[in-house]
Amino acid sequence: MIKKIKVKNSGIVKLQFYNDFPDGNLVIGEVKKNVPFIIKRFYFINNLFNRKSTRGLHAHKKLEQIIFCINGSFTLTLDDGSNRQKIKMDDPYYGIRLGPKLWHTMTKFTSDCVILVLASDHFKESDYIRNYNEFLRYIKK
Ligand code: TYD
Repeated sequence: MIKKIKVKNSGIVKLQFYNDFPDGNLVIGEVKKNVPFIIKRFYFINNLFNRKSTRGLHAHKKLEQIIFCINGSFTLTLDDGSNRQKIKMDDPYYGIRLGPKLWHTMTKFTSDCVILVLASDHFKESDYIRNYNEFLRYIKK
């Protein structure tokens, strides 16, 4: 797992965990402690059997999200328009904050990969920027 985030509008979210239980681990996040926004939506991504899949490829105008890889691994690429950083997501105890105005791409999924995303708002297609050049224009506004 990454130690330092070099792009804007991101950060590392560390969860509380107990991983020394003989009967399994317990991992906890709480709003305003580890999660800096009220969660209005969550979604998860599973069934990632196609290693060549690419997901994401968009930025958000206002939405705040935190992304966790709760099983398996994948590569998260973050791009704030000036800096780009690749993060191997392979530790379920750490999430990455996906703030607004941050282009992100997800690749290299293991077949057992399960991704959990917490979001600060309901789904709104109007909050998406799905074209990279439009993203570059939007962040310069
Ligand atoms: P998208 O966010 O582009 O997927 P990803 O970033 O995981 O590749 O969403 C894919 C499709 O699902 C798109 O048509 C919008 C729809 N969708 C919803 O209807 N509600 C949601 O909460 C999300 C995340 C997506």
